[in-house]
Amino acid sequence: MSAGEAGEPSVAGGAGKAASGGGGSGGAENAGAAGVPEEGGMGGAVPGMGGVGADAGAAGMVAMVEPPRPPTAPLLTLSPLPAVPADTTNAYADNALARALGQKLFFDKRYSGVLKQASDLGALGEAGKVACFSCHSSSTMADNRSVPNNVTLGTDFHTRSAPPLVNSSYYVWTNWAGRFSAQWELPIAVAENPITMNSTRLTLAHFIFDHYKTEYEAIFGAMEPAIGTDAARFPASGKPKAATTDADGVWELMAAGDRTIVNRIGANYGKALQAYMRQLVSGNAPFDQWVAGTDHAVSAAAKRGAELFAGKARCLSCHNGPDFTDNQFHNLGVPQSGAHVPATDDGRFKDAVSLLASPINSGTAFSDDIATGRLLGLTTPMPLSTKAQFRTSSLRNIALTAPYMHAGQLSTLSDVVAFYNAGGGAPATGTVKDPLLFPLSLSASEQTDLVAFLNTLTGTSVSAALLVDTSGQ
Ligand code: HEC
Ligand code: HEC
Repeated sequence: MSAGEAGEPSVAGGAGKAASGGGGSGGAENAGAAGVPEEGGMGGAVPGMGGVGADAGAAGMVAMVEPPRPPTAPLLTLSPLPAVPADTTNAYADNALARALGQKLFFDKRYSGVLKQASDLGALGEAGKVACFSCHSSSTMADNRSVPNNVTLGTDFHTRSAPPLVNSSYYVWTNWAGRFSAQWELPIAVAENPITMNSTRLTLAHFIFDHYKTEYEAIFGAMEPAIGTDAARFPASGKPKAATTDADGVWELMAAGDRTIVNRIGANYGKALQAYMRQLVSGNAPFDQWVAGTDHAVSAAAKRGAELFAGKARCLSCHNGPDFTDNQFHNLGVPQSGAHVPATDDGRFKDAVSLLASPINSGTAFSDDIATGRLLGLTTPMPLSTKAQFRTSSLRNIALTAPYMHAGQLSTLSDVVAFYNAGGGAPATGTVKDPLLFPLSLSASEQTDLVAFLNTLTGTSVSAALLVDTSGQ
């Protein structure tokens, strides 16, 4: 989905490639420059500059090499990208065997349910056609497959766009509106969701028993043998009923202890997938190289854009820290527009309630640390002020992940900057726009500079070995 950015300045990308070719030595060589005061740098780089006074002609200045321009203090808080933070709710988060099993499961589509829409994935009614990778397949593991290019299409049209998985382990909350409090909570929900993979947790448990029992047991311990032999205790398929008012189904009729056995397999499936995803990291972007002292890693326009980002454009009030997010939720008034986009999306207001109600979250017995306090402060219902709030996105690799916002409403980075320049959108009825947004009065060239800066946030590619389908399906 990077085609939309084809018209954007590509200075930054080019500089990035050149700079990364130099590797660590370039950074080390230039590391001293960051500490040199700007005037000293100018004097050193351009002999005779010391004599430049008020009477020096403008033409003479233009002909000279740009003087080094180190980043100002606020920008230093955005780099470098540290290691992925620990997650004590998953005891297998950095386990090598769990990583390997997670990678297999990520590419495996055999346990997915029937397609409710015909698409490039298969014909209507076909099963076994959707893997995690189907919707997280671009270089950043966002969606570059779905047509049209906004909300993601799996077994059915999703209501939102699949975000990149590269660097997603840095987030405190998972999903656009924080539906999950740990990454491992997500996969079982996604496997069962009728619009993503449309499977069931019993299907999944049998699938892992039949195809990955050895790998699973080496990590998580023995599987219940009756899963393979006793179809009365462990029916072939079944999941919790959609509404409490629905009649009990196969799942509700199972013994409580057997449901727990299946739920634990679902949670462990998530823990293996999280272990895999935690390796998907991308840092050392041209911006990081500039902060580390390589002055030429980014263009002059990008440097001006960076200062606007932290200054006049106020982006830093939400996009802060080395992953460019405050990990908070805000209502920007992004319109619910576009093909297959629902008329309303309550965002945090709805998703936090689903999180609290989930029997598989970081505060339940399936978590390896129930004392993180992550769920404290969430309530049912959530305050009305959380309506239409979404999580502040990371901006790393942002040039690669068009279209933008939770339902791909904005096509290009220029569109995003214009959106903020106007002070955001009109909030949906009954919702309140974040007071941190207001018209910015950025000139056309300032907006171009801001986009040039955003284009310097493209980091290293993830290891090709992590993108190999190891499932053997
Ligand atoms: C139908 C396409 C589809 C499939 C299949 C799919 N995803 Fe996603 N994924 C999405 C969408 C859409 C979102 C955003 C959902 C939301 O915010 O409500 C998402 C969000 C995520 C996130 C959250 C990232 C963040 O920024 O917090 C993770 C992690 C993730 N998916 C992992 C997976 C894994 C693991 C699988 C396989 C078990 C999977 N996905 C299968 C479409 C898909
Ligand atoms: C009030 C907090 C806030 C401010 C200020 C803010 N952002 Fe955002 N930004 C967000 C949130 C929240 C989202 C996700 C919104 C959504 O999807 O509905 C977002 C999304 C984005 C996206 C799209 C991310 C994606 O993955 O699709 C870009 C690009 C972006 N912001 C850039 C900027 C720039 C540039 C500025 C300054 C001009 C800025 N933001 C100011 C909170 C903010």
